[in-house]
Amino acid sequence: MRNIRAIIYGVGRMGAIATRLMLEQGVEIVGAISQSPSKVGRDLGDVAGLGVKTNVLVESDAAAVLGARAPDIAVVTVSSYLAEMYEHLRLCADNRVNAVTLAEEALYPWRTSPVLTAQLDALARERGVTITGTGQQDVYWVNLVALMMGTAHRVDEVVGRVSWNVDDYGPEVARDQHVGESVETFARFAAGADRPPTFGRNTLDALVAGSGLRVASIENTTRAAVAESEMYSSTLDIKIPTGHVVGFTDIDTIRTVEGPVFALEMTGSVYKEGQGDINDWEIHGEPDLRVVNPAVPTQVTTCTQLVNRIPDVINAAPGFVTVDQLPPLRYRPFPLGAYLAR
Ligand SMILES: NC(=O)c1ccc[n+]([C@@H]2O[C@H](COP(=O)([O-])OP(=O)(O)OC[C@H]3O[C@@H](n4cnc5c(N)ncnc54)[C@H](OP(=O)(O)O)[C@@H]3O)[C@@H](O)[C@H]2O)c1
Repeated sequence: MRNIRAIIYGVGRMGAIATRLMLEQGVEIVGAISQSPSKVGRDLGDVAGLGVKTNVLVESDAAAVLGARAPDIAVVTVSSYLAEMYEHLRLCADNRVNAVTLAEEALYPWRTSPVLTAQLDALARERGVTITGTGQQDVYWVNLVALMMGTAHRVDEVVGRVSWNVDDYGPEVARDQHVGESVETFARFAAGADRPPTFGRNTLDALVAGSGLRVASIENTTRAAVAESEMYSSTLDIKIPTGHVVGFTDIDTIRTVEGPVFALEMTGSVYKEGQGDINDWEIHGEPDLRVVNPAVPTQVTTCTQLVNRIPDVINAAPGFVTVDQLPPLRYRPFPLGAYLAR
C-alpha cells in the first residue's frame, strides 16, 4: 500500500476539519493553500486548530504548490459556484492533480454551467485526472434517495425538504446566504437574471441524471428567512436586526420528459434556539417511500464524505465525473491508500 499525497486547497472552516480527517486516515498532506495574510506562512496544524504541528506551511501560490509537490489529489474547499471555482479546478487539472471539491455547483454542473464543465472535463481527460464535487448532498440528498427509488415499482414524484445552519460553516457560505441583508437588497438578488444556480437545482439535476431521465422544465422560487427578533451570527460575528435576512429558502422543481417530478425545498439560515437540521425525502408512487435523517451533524458529515471519496476520485476514469457515476460511498476503516486500485 502506498500513501495518498494530498493538498488542502482552502483552509477555512471545512478545510480545517478535512485536514484532521485526512491526517487521521493516513493521508500525507504535502501542501496547503489559502490566501489571507493571517494564515499564509503559518503551520497548517496551527491554522486548522489541530494542536499539533504538521510541518506543512500554508502558502498562497496555488500554481507553484500544485506544480511542485506531485500530489495525487487536491481537496478544494474554497467557494460554491463554478464561475469562481473554474480557475482553481483548471489549475489542478493542468498540473495533473485530481480534485475533489465541496463546491455545491460541482455536484452536477453539466446543466447549470455546461461550457465551463465541458472545458474542465476536456482538460481533465487530456491530463488523465478526475474532478468530482461531493459534500453533504452526495449521500444524504442524492445517493440515499436514489437507492430508495430503486425499491419503487413506479415513481411519480420525489419531494425533498432539507435545512442546514449557516453558522456551521465559514463566512463564504454566510455571504452566499445573504445573512444580515435588508429584505429589499435580498429581493433584488432573488429577482436578478444572472443569479447563480441554487444548490438544490444541482442536487435535483444529479438525481434526474442518475435515474436516466430527461429534463422537460425547471421552476425556481426563492423566499427570504427573516429574523423575528434580533439574532446573532457566530460565523460573521454580527447582530442581525429584527426584519433582516438570516438566510433563505429555494424551492426547485424539475419536470421530466418521462413523467416523474422532482422538487426540493432547501433552507440555509442562521438557526433560532432549538432549530435543527431537516433531511426529509418522500417518494410518491408505488409504493410511497420516505427517507428521513434528522439531526445529522452536517459539518462533520460534509467533510467525512469529502475525505472518504478521495480513493473513489483517484480510481475513477479521467474527466469531470459526478457522484451519481461513482461507486456507493463506503466506510473506510483502513488508511485511504488501501483503497487505491493501482
Ligand atoms: N457541498 C457541501 O455539502 C458543502 C458544505 C459546506 C460548505 N460547502 C462549501 O465549501 C466552501 C467552503 O466552506 P467553508 O465553510 O470552509 O468556508 P470558509 O470558512 O469561508 O472557507 C473558505 C476558504 O477558502 C479560501 N479561499 C477563498 N478564496 C481563495 C483563493 N482564491 N485561493 C485560495 N484560498 C481561497 C479562504 O481562504 P482565507 O481564509 O485564507 O481567506 C477560506 O479559508 C463554501 O463555498 C461552501 O459553500 C459545501
